[in-house]
Amino acid sequence: MFKTIIEPFKIKVVEPIRMTTESERRAALERAFFNPFLLESDQVLIDMLTDSGTSAMSSRQWAGIMEGDESYAGAKSWKKMEKRISDLTDCPYVLPTHQGRAAERILYGYLGGKNKIFISNTHFDTTRANIEFSGATAIDCPCEESADPTTEFPFKGNLHIEKLKQLIAHHGVSNIAAVILTVTNNSGGGQPVSMANAREVRDICKKNGVLFILDACRIAENSYFIKHREKGFEHSTYETIAREMFSLADGCIMSAKKDALVNMGGFLALKNKSLADACTNLLIITEGFTTYGGLSGRDMEAIAIGLEEVFDEHYLQYRIASATYFGEHLHKLGIPIIHPIGAHAVYVDAKALYDHIPAHEYPGQALVCELYRTGGVRAVEIGSVMFGKYDKKGQLVAAPKELVRLALPRRVYTQSHIDYVIEVFEQIFEHRKKARGLKIIYEPKFLRHFTAHFEEIKS
Ligand code: F0G
Repeated sequence: MFKTIIEPFKIKVVEPIRMTTESERRAALERAFFNPFLLESDQVLIDMLTDSGTSAMSSRQWAGIMEGDESYAGAKSWKKMEKRISDLTDCPYVLPTHQGRAAERILYGYLGGKNKIFISNTHFDTTRANIEFSGATAIDCPCEESADPTTEFPFKGNLHIEKLKQLIAHHGVSNIAAVILTVTNNSGGGQPVSMANAREVRDICKKNGVLFILDACRIAENSYFIKHREKGFEHSTYETIAREMFSLADGCIMSAKKDALVNMGGFLALKNKSLADACTNLLIITEGFTTYGGLSGRDMEAIAIGLEEVFDEHYLQYRIASATYFGEHLHKLGIPIIHPIGAHAVYVDAKALYDHIPAHEYPGQALVCELYRTGGVRAVEIGSVMFGKYDKKGQLVAAPKELVRLALPRRVYTQSHIDYVIEVFEQIFEHRKKARGLKIIYEPKFLRHFTAHFEEIKS
């Protein structure tokens, strides 16, 4: 009867946003070496840096926080979290970690090492870094459709099945440490993966005896797209769809900071006992005892509840509607965005917007700087700053795409916040020819985007 999809919650607690002027923001950006990761959060008006750990928890989760059992061993809160996860994922072995990358370090550190190969639809930056840090190689294997940001193919997060077969044959089964399917495919534009694709990946892995791991941090959002885009799932619930996908894999890693609707947490869940035992040893050494890992009891309560709330149909409908609203308005302004619009973020094609800035002058970084300067909006570059490499001569090998991600924290911003960001983009579009590229003046060895320093290139 009504076309407006409202936020399916009332606001009970508010956190003030500090207003800033453009000149304050210019100064703050210079102090942060043109890297928004180095800004202080009270200098930011609308923070779209990430949807990770930035959710607003529900009153039920906050009530759960008070119930948190902080016992070192055998905490009741752990039992709740363990039950919810093993039930949902079909994995009997659940290892709690302080966040997703700790689970990655444990599993991929154990499976990795020199000569080992990991294959994924697209490795997220921490996934790739943990794999490479172990000495292993991470190979991205996205489907062909993902290369064109303008088409409406419904499952651009899919893994390229033929290439997967070739890679396994080429490197030899014994060298393949795991195949990782990331749902939704964050670094590939937040695009979903179909059940059909997950089934094919499972079949190939099973046939070859290769381990199949799901990176499930946005599995509820992925389930939304399956229900609405894939034949045969129209009548399934979001949770049933997620359960089916979990059932295909040998285990999963989840950063609970996304679809478990909490501010901190993660886990590793496995079906194989001996692999789980090996990982448990590492868990105890580096994260904590088996019944808390890197978490406090209250975190575990909130995760158990969040993993139920996230499958609520009204929540998911609102979540996807707000991303769609945002993306469609940007598209109408002429801002080149990745299609179809995903769930946790809108991705802008900075190479197309700033076609006068070459990859080695980082058009994505130029756009995140303009967004902050113009409107105090913080976003993240997902392009050659994040994924660029140097060849033997020290020349930049650019990333395949120069994107900027505007992530939507869960249950945090309302439609008027989004309207404001759309207005900021109006300005950005108008002044697009004036944007300038940047050069890197400092960078660390791994994950350089977090701490790199930049300088603007004077025209
Ligand atoms: N896998 C994916 C697909 C992710 O998006 C992330 C985090 C991780 C693993 C690591 O989890 O942060 O809990 O250690 N993504 C955040 C982001 C940081 O902004 O997209 P974590």
